[in-house]
Amino acid sequence: MPKAVILASGQGSNAQAILKRLAVGNMSLEVVAVLSDKKNPGVKEKADFFQTPFESFHFDNFNELLGLLKKYNPEWAFLAGYMKILPKKILEYFYDSTYKVYRVLNIHPSLLPSFPGLNAYEQAYYSLSDQSGITLHFVDEGVDTGPILFQKSFLIDRAKETLEDIKKKGQKIEHELYTQAIESIETGHIFNLLNQGRVK
Ligand code: GRF
Repeated sequence: MPKAVILASGQGSNAQAILKRLAVGNMSLEVVAVLSDKKNPGVKEKADFFQTPFESFHFDNFNELLGLLKKYNPEWAFLAGYMKILPKKILEYFYDSTYKVYRVLNIHPSLLPSFPGLNAYEQAYYSLSDQSGITLHFVDEGVDTGPILFQKSFLIDRAKETLEDIKKKGQKIEHELYTQAIESIETGHIFNLLNQGRVK
């Protein structure tokens, strides 16, 4: 069964959606640990609920993170509200030489390539655009630049919706897209998407 780790720094609603999907779905993919660069983030409670080991590492000690990867031996990493850029030595751990990608996925709250980096909901809300969206993508060495797997847009109606409303709407989609990505790993379809050139 393929093993995965979740990397998260915050509340962990995406981690929760992933763990829930795996718990109810009788699926052939296992999240072996939730790893965090925070000591006691909200995501820890979610990991505990699903009886998934939680471990933290010092935020700029990537050798410590590498040690955890060697301990849990995952094939995949799911970034779910992990706010740092992973250095190459960590990405290389997940390199898939057949498909020439790192088996690392990230959820980003904008329609990439628009609004990469931090505070993407804010960037979109205070822009002139009447729509934004969510992107699920493979991670590469850049900031939110890896091959795009799934995207879904939503409208922004500033007369009726606050920034908080937009975040709530977007997070629901984040969870849907991560669930979809997990399912496509299970079926092997994720690599067909790359092969078919569906991935931008
Ligand atoms: C999400 O909005 C995600 O898109 C961004 O960080 C947030 C994490 O939320 N990268 P959560 O911790 O999964 O609830």
